[in-house]
Amino acid sequence: MLSKPKAIITGIEAYIPEYVLTNDELSTMVDTSDEWIMSRVGIKERHILKEDGLGTSFMGSIAVQRLLEATKTDPSEVQMLVCHTVTPDMVFTATSNIICDKCGIKNAWGFDTNAGCSGFLFTFETVRRFIETGEYKKIVLVCGERMSSIVDYSDRSTCPLFGDAAVALMIEPSEDDTLGFQDSILHVDGIGRRYLYQTAGGSLYPASHENVDRHMHFIHQEGQGVFKHAVVSMADVSEEMMKRHNLVADDIAYLVPHQANLRIIDATARRMGLKKEKVLINIDRFGNTAGTSIPLTLWDFKSRFKKGDNLILSAFGAGFTWGSIFYRWAY
Ligand code: UT7
Repeated sequence: MLSKPKAIITGIEAYIPEYVLTNDELSTMVDTSDEWIMSRVGIKERHILKEDGLGTSFMGSIAVQRLLEATKTDPSEVQMLVCHTVTPDMVFTATSNIICDKCGIKNAWGFDTNAGCSGFLFTFETVRRFIETGEYKKIVLVCGERMSSIVDYSDRSTCPLFGDAAVALMIEPSEDDTLGFQDSILHVDGIGRRYLYQTAGGSLYPASHENVDRHMHFIHQEGQGVFKHAVVSMADVSEEMMKRHNLVADDIAYLVPHQANLRIIDATARRMGLKKEKVLINIDRFGNTAGTSIPLTLWDFKSRFKKGDNLILSAFGAGFTWGSIFYRWAY
């Protein structure tokens, strides 16, 4: 039997908004300090899309245009575009459709996904299944978040955490099945909705003045509850992936973790037995960009990767959703 083609990343480009919101500026907005944010979370600054009238598709379409240019791809060659976001431009039309329109991608179909901070893992798993059919040669995967559009800048427990960014990846088949997407372990548990949510903006609480007044269109997080689940689950699933493939710490080139809290990342790396230099961290510069954080980290550190490097990508997020992907860098 012929083996299925493996999904490989052949290009990765990003759009980072210019405006930098520092801990010092946040300290003028709410009762917080650089010392508290750095010691509890590990964030120094985050980028914010400040301009009115721009949504996630603005950032996503620039990332896609850069990707098409970098990979010398004509828009007509793209067969599918999938966008992960918890901050779509609007409830519908899907942001994937809007990005296609802005980038002149006319021969593709696509859709949006929503899996909180594990969004890249869930979406990459979906896309790789299409690649494995053999029918798809070029799929664009976009992760984009304008988290600042749902952050309550009067709530000190959440406003230091989040940042904005978009990343676009070209996913193609490889006949060399030692490279690319090797395996995934993914989970959901709906109890997470009690700890991390945005209640209004959907069908449960239709638009009303009262909902706006009660700040129901913003992110709410019961931080400690999420932390306790995240710290155990992200480490468990990463260790499980290592065991499943008989990987020891020396076999792993890098852990690419979701960037929510430095303490969660450290706990995961400790459980995997990884030295500091094998753990990719940029939470200090970008904050938590939700489902965009793993591809943003891949983009940020891509010059370090060598063909054949074993990467473990791990995340935990709203839902709850969590999981791990074992990926072997392909170029
Ligand atoms: O990405 C999706 C998944 N999300 C996560 O994985 C996030 C998981 N949770 C966390 O990372 C942490 O729980 C947070 C960073 C959100 C919060 O850290 P914490 O150590 O759990 O703090 P806490 O919520 O227990 O608050 C401790 C204290 C409280 O004061 P008291 O009650 O002890 O007097 C808070 O009011 O810190 C206070 N506090 C702050 N103080 C200064 C909360 N936010 C701030 C702040 N500045 N920004």
